[in-house]
Amino acid sequence: MSTSNHNLNNRPIGFFDSGVGGLSVYSKFKKLLRNENTLYFGDLAHLPYGNKSREELIGYARGILNFYKEKNVKAVVIACNTSSAQAYDTVKNEYDFKIYPIIQSCAQVIATQNIKKIGVFATMATVNSAVYTRELKKYNQGLQIKEIPCPNWVDIVESGRYQDDSAVNDIKIHLEEMMKFEPEKIILGCTHYPYLLDLLAAFTTKELFIDPAEIFVEYIAEDLKALGMLSQEIESSEENIYVSANPQNFVEHSKIFYKINKLPNVINLNN
Ligand code: DGL
Repeated sequence: MSTSNHNLNNRPIGFFDSGVGGLSVYSKFKKLLRNENTLYFGDLAHLPYGNKSREELIGYARGILNFYKEKNVKAVVIACNTSSAQAYDTVKNEYDFKIYPIIQSCAQVIATQNIKKIGVFATMATVNSAVYTRELKKYNQGLQIKEIPCPNWVDIVESGRYQDDSAVNDIKIHLEEMMKFEPEKIILGCTHYPYLLDLLAAFTTKELFIDPAEIFVEYIAEDLKALGMLSQEIESSEENIYVSANPQNFVEHSKIFYKINKLPNVINLNN
């Protein structure tokens, strides 16, 4: 490999989500591709994304993509279903680096799993976009899909109030509604939701749920490899987390979710 390619491949990959949720993708990615330099942006100033308009979500995505452009990234991972659903189609050709949206990247693998009925739990904005249905149907026309919005679940995760009766009840109500559809699998279509898996599994089985994060990181790894874009460094040196507000909140809640050695620097961009 030429030196210039080598240097280009060692540029960082930027991840983003509205908060800690995307760490479910980020932490899996770090385990799979240890050589990659990575950055993470938690847009806490605009959390939750799930109740924002399309125009707002496009604006947030552009702001973060412009920030990552300044950081000279080789790729950006949209570790957020809501942004993938509402902003990706509009911004995808505006940048000269690779952009990986979670929904569109995972749809083919999920749609071809030999199942007939699939449920999707997601934010209001993701469900309103119907992008899960659109993308899954591209690969499996006959698939029956039911999307149900869960407007309180991001707050349950970000506030860490898993044990509250109101949280448990909210989860139970949505699950009961979904079970009437008799899905063979349910996609956790928001990166925050895998953290509720134990609560969901209390009413059914863990095997019923698909966390797209695993499929997503494998897709990105294979694509980077196919494009000859994998970093060749032995050890990653650069790893920062940026937040647009509330760094203390992010640190506290990410401790529960971030399962790699220690949390990197958390930098508040609004200081
Ligand atoms: N975790 C994000 C998603 O995957 C957004 C959640 C939110 O901020 O509402 O959709």
